[in-house]
Amino acid sequence: MPQTLTVLGLESSCDDTAAAVVRQMPGAGAEILASVGHGQAELHGAYGGVVPEIAARAHAEKLDVCVIQALGDAGLDLGGIDAIAVTAGPGLIGGVISGVMCAKGLAAATGLPLIGVNHLAGHALTPRLTDGIAFPYLMLLVSGGHCQYLIADGTQDFTRLGGTIDDAPGEAFDKTARLLGLPQPGGPSVEAEARHGDPARFRFPRPLLDRPDCNLSFSGLKTALLRARDQLVAEQGGLTRADRADLCAGFQQAVVETLAAKTRRALTLYLQQDPPEPVLAVAGGVAANEAIRAGLESVCAEMGARFLAPPLSLCTDNAAMIAYAGLELFRDGVRHGMDLPARPRWPLDDSSPALMGGGRKGAKA
Ligand code: KG4
Ligand code: ZN
Repeated sequence: MPQTLTVLGLESSCDDTAAAVVRQMPGAGAEILASVGHGQAELHGAYGGVVPEIAARAHAEKLDVCVIQALGDAGLDLGGIDAIAVTAGPGLIGGVISGVMCAKGLAAATGLPLIGVNHLAGHALTPRLTDGIAFPYLMLLVSGGHCQYLIADGTQDFTRLGGTIDDAPGEAFDKTARLLGLPQPGGPSVEAEARHGDPARFRFPRPLLDRPDCNLSFSGLKTALLRARDQLVAEQGGLTRADRADLCAGFQQAVVETLAAKTRRALTLYLQQDPPEPVLAVAGGVAANEAIRAGLESVCAEMGARFLAPPLSLCTDNAAMIAYAGLELFRDGVRHGMDLPARPRWPLDDSSPALMGGGRKGAKA
């Protein structure tokens, strides 16, 4: 490794405005010198989802604040930075443009190299930042906006094995919570209810398990839950605490089993490459779910792969992953000019067919 590199990263593709500084010294692992973020939950709370215009404006207001704070936390000024990395897609376009314009401004003013990073590559390279793992590894992205299986063969070499054709699992958790009157974000509240529910009382569909591929679908599950809820309300005039817990447990069990079954398929395909040290890594907020983690862990144990879940702060949207991905790309010689586009859609793997679904949090690419 030729030199110490210090990269400033910016992230603004959804509802988190974030900046981070990551450094890698020769022969050492990468170190996060600073990672700061401003969430927008309170701005969107009243609307039941991220409002793109509000998000874009808030990003534009907070990006410079985040950059100043990250540099301050790292004890550096721009003179101590070697390159500027920015999420250039996929995501809500107003937010992506805000980040790209901020990064271009910084690059133009300082003469530093500019590197556009694919947000999904940021997630997918995180296990190398946290654990220094080698290629190839299998990655499962599961969040409110993403759901896909990727084989990572290199910093710019990803093969998508499959993904959701409609909702992301986090979206399904959030909608389930909304249907049952539980607080947002839905994942943690549904998980808490499910803990004292009976997963066998309601048998919800396990979508697409009859298909031999790695694609997933979660919108039918939500509809099944809505029907079960409406039936209970029609019969009893409302839901009891136990009904709510059983509905959550049944829903969560369906997600656990669906992800476990599709992960088994994805691992089978990945293991055909004979990786010397097989790894399944996860990223995304849904990876916080203990039942889902346990399901994935047991599939990994059964198939002889290591299960790796980075700390939650690096599993969810953050700028450290963008700075780190930028650092890897910089070492690969990637540089972008002032014509770097902001892209609402940007598949990591151009060779696989586009998946459907825009989703509450923007394009799933
Ligand atoms: O990765 P993330 O913070 O943001 C993006 O979607 O980009 O993921 C947030 C999603 C939300 O939909 C939230 O409900 C879900 O992750 N989530 C969970 C849990 N904690 C967060 N889903 C299931 N179980 C959880 N414990
Ligand atoms: Zn993300």
